[in-house]
Amino acid sequence: MLEVNNLNKILILDFGSQYTQLIARRIREQKVYSEIHPYNYDLAEIKKFNPKGIILSGGPSSVYDTDAPICSTEIFYLGIPVLGICYGMQLMSHLLGGKVAYSDKREYGRAIIEIKKPLSLFEDIDTSELAVWMSHGDKVDTIPPDFTQLALSSNTPFAAIANHERKLYGVQFHPEVAHTNNGTQILRNFVFSACQCDPNWNMKNFIETQVKEIKEKVGDKNIICGLSGGVDSSVAAVLLHKAVGNQLKCIFVNNGVLRANEAEKVVSVFRNNFHIDLIYVDAEERFLDALKDITDPEQKRKIIGNEFIKVFEEEAKKIDNVEFLAQGTLYPDVIESVSFKGPSVMIKSHHNVGGLPEKMHLKLVEPFRELFKDEVRLVGKELGIPNEIVNRQPFPGPGLAIRIIGEITKERLEILRKADTIVVEEIKKANLYDKIWQSFAVLLPVKSVGVMGDERTYENTAALRIVESLDGMTADWAKIPYDLLGLISNRIINEVEGINRVVYDISSKPPSTIEWE
Ligand code: XMP
Repeated sequence: MLEVNNLNKILILDFGSQYTQLIARRIREQKVYSEIHPYNYDLAEIKKFNPKGIILSGGPSSVYDTDAPICSTEIFYLGIPVLGICYGMQLMSHLLGGKVAYSDKREYGRAIIEIKKPLSLFEDIDTSELAVWMSHGDKVDTIPPDFTQLALSSNTPFAAIANHERKLYGVQFHPEVAHTNNGTQILRNFVFSACQCDPNWNMKNFIETQVKEIKEKVGDKNIICGLSGGVDSSVAAVLLHKAVGNQLKCIFVNNGVLRANEAEKVVSVFRNNFHIDLIYVDAEERFLDALKDITDPEQKRKIIGNEFIKVFEEEAKKIDNVEFLAQGTLYPDVIESVSFKGPSVMIKSHHNVGGLPEKMHLKLVEPFRELFKDEVRLVGKELGIPNEIVNRQPFPGPGLAIRIIGEITKERLEILRKADTIVVEEIKKANLYDKIWQSFAVLLPVKSVGVMGDERTYENTAALRIVESLDGMTADWAKIPYDLLGLISNRIINEVEGINRVVYDISSKPPSTIEWE
């Protein structure tokens, strides 16, 4: 739980909706801090958390299910405004004396609601009809005593309800979803009018509090931090450095599968611009030896992961007085392990430093446990980290090793580095870099015939992977202009010796993945 003086907080109780994180993000975009906790979060904890408002998320259950998630009825008697969304509204109605109609049919997708009372939740919305996003089976049939109807739809007379006196509200639709028109205004009305929040969540505040906390926690001990050059570890390093100066020791491992000039760039930015005590380990040969003749992608990942831990541990041992290890854990990882759904089954191996903290008897410092990725970027900007780093596209831990299909050799790495540089250069020139999730080249183990001048060639094929995505979980191939594809292809074939054919990957995820491996 984040402790910041006078911070206004909205508590979100999670009943298992796929949109719960989205609610938290929408609230934070309004500069109001919000935290997600499981639906059965203890009442004493809730009081301690001291929220200005509570939101009950949606969820896949019916209040009549034998194992339905139910929160304490007392929540509605704390004098704190409550907004129930979808299942949250049904549960509120059910617990306060209304009636929910069971249905085994779902209403899913766009619907139109008619606003009957342009008050409270619908303040400052200058239309009486709204397109909203619905995703529910059951619906409220009878509203609890002292509640009133705010809006209806063709499917239900109670698309939105309220008890104004007690500041209890319910919406059958999802205001947090982009498809709901004025959804943000509805949430703003709850947060600012009903809960009377001040918009006092900003990254400047966050940095100040974290700096203080980190200083107190760390005392005169040293912290080590594995710097990868990616957004999370870069911003973490600069923040920690602001807090403890040279008690922060960063370790950057060149694993031999980095992009062109990556190592030089990272070392230069962090040493020269930020004056961070950075240990550079050139482990290129060691990694490439371990990867020799390996073609299986899972094996490549394992080797790189294990080797990284070994190198990191060796280096860390050389530093005195170390008691802490910094990690760039983000809020979505934290929620995954505490939410309604329980610990996530899919633990991403790259977030897992292989038990390093326990093995080395280190305590963790995780300054971004409460932040979403876009908030980390804002922290980075506030700390003066160059845009080039803050807005970087994701790059996998196992690096180019999983973008070279088949065997990894120095020669193949060089070929891919050159092609990759061209892709990034042209995507940046076309002003698409920040709009696209990832854009890179993959080197395939396929040779084909071509002609260069009068010569017959027999060379490698590169695939371009350029995708749009919100979070990497799903993705679609980007419909970039043909001319740009043509330009990239021409440049690669003309400038990169060893490639004579370029193809464009037009698969979406799922069923494909972003990386080829
Ligand atoms: P896939 O290929 O599974 O990738 O669709 C989803 C996102 O995750 C990134 N990725 C990784 N990142 N270590 C990382 O740090 C890894 O082992 C790894 N594998 C995939 C990938 O680049 C994409 O953004």
